[in-house]
Amino acid sequence: MQSLTTTSLRIRENQLWILDQQALPQRSDWRECRDVSELVDHIRTLRVRGAPLIGLSASLLLALLAEQGMAQDALHHALETLRASRPTAVNLMNNLDRMKAALQHTDYVKALTEEALRLVDEDRALCDSIATHGATLVMPGSRLLTHCNTGGLATAGVGTAIGVIRRAHEQGNVAQVWVDETRPLLQGGRLTAWELGELSIPYQLICDSMAASLMAQKRVDAIWVGADRIAANGDVANKIGTYSLAVLAKYHGIPFYVAAPHTTHDPQCPDGAAIPIEQRAAGEVTGVSGSFGSVQWAPDNAQVYNPAFDVTPAELISGWVLDVGVVTPGQVRDGVFRQALR
Ligand code: MRU
Repeated sequence: MQSLTTTSLRIRENQLWILDQQALPQRSDWRECRDVSELVDHIRTLRVRGAPLIGLSASLLLALLAEQGMAQDALHHALETLRASRPTAVNLMNNLDRMKAALQHTDYVKALTEEALRLVDEDRALCDSIATHGATLVMPGSRLLTHCNTGGLATAGVGTAIGVIRRAHEQGNVAQVWVDETRPLLQGGRLTAWELGELSIPYQLICDSMAASLMAQKRVDAIWVGADRIAANGDVANKIGTYSLAVLAKYHGIPFYVAAPHTTHDPQCPDGAAIPIEQRAAGEVTGVSGSFGSVQWAPDNAQVYNPAFDVTPAELISGWVLDVGVVTPGQVRDGVFRQALR
C-alpha cells in the first residue's frame, strides 16, 4: 500500500502505525500495529479513538492484512472481530460494511486497498465540508465551548467540531475556546488542549463542572461537540457529559451544535434509547492513569458506574452540522435522518 500520513495514522512500508493517544501530550509515541488483536487492544484502551478514526484504522489494517496474504475467510473473521471492538460509534460499522462489500470482489486484495484509501480520502473531504458549513454559524468574537476531542487526532482531516473552530479561527471569528477536561479519560485536558495549542488557537482549560457558571456569566457564545452516532430522530450519542452541556445550553439560551460526517448517521437506529452505550472499567473513575503515571483516590471496593457516552435528545440541538450541510431542527422533525443521507 502507498505511504499515508494523517495526524494520528501512518502507513509506512506496508505497516500501520498509530500515534498513541494515551501517551499524548507528554510523549508522541508511534506504535506499530501488526494484527487484529493489537488494533483491538489499541481501540479498547483508547490509544486509537474518536469515531471516524476507529473506522479508518480498522479498514486500513484489513487492507494491509489482505495484501500480506490473509485468506478471505480469515479476513471475514478479522472484520467481525474489529466490528465488535467498541459498540457506540457507528462509523466503525459503516466503514466495515463497505470493506465487507469489497471483500466479495474476485480481486478482493485490490478492492480492499482501494476502499480503505478511499475512506481516508473521503474522511478528509468530509471534515473539510463540515468546517466550511460550520464556520458560517460562528459569529465574530465568539467564545466557544467544546467537549472531548474532535480534531485531527480523531479523524483523517481537520476534525469535526474542532475543524469548525479551526476554520472559524482562520476567519478571525474565534476569541477563545473553553476546553472541558472531559472526565474520566481527559480527552479535552490531554488532547484538545494539545491540538489547540499546536494550532495557536487561544483556549482555557476548565473542569467539566465549571461550564455551568461560565454560561451563567454569559461567557459562552456557542457550544460545539462531535458525535458517535446520530439516530433517525436526531438524538445524538457523544462523550459522557455532552447531555449536561446541552441541558445547560437550553437553560441559558446558548446555541448547541453537533458536527459530524454522514458516516456517523444511523437511520436503522430509531432513537437515542436504541444506541448501545459502552460501559467501561471502574479504574477509570476510581483514579486516573496515563503516561504521567497512575493514581487511585477512591476506596479499593468503591462501586462504579462508568458509561463512556450519553445521549442528547434532538430537542436540545440547535443544528446538526454535517458534510452535506446544516440540518435544522425543523428538517429533523420532518424526518431527514430517517433515510440515508447520500
Ligand atoms: O471515547 P472516545 O474518546 O473515542 O470518544 C470520542 C467522542 O465522543 C468524540 O466526540 C466523537 O467520537 C467525535 S470525534 C470526531
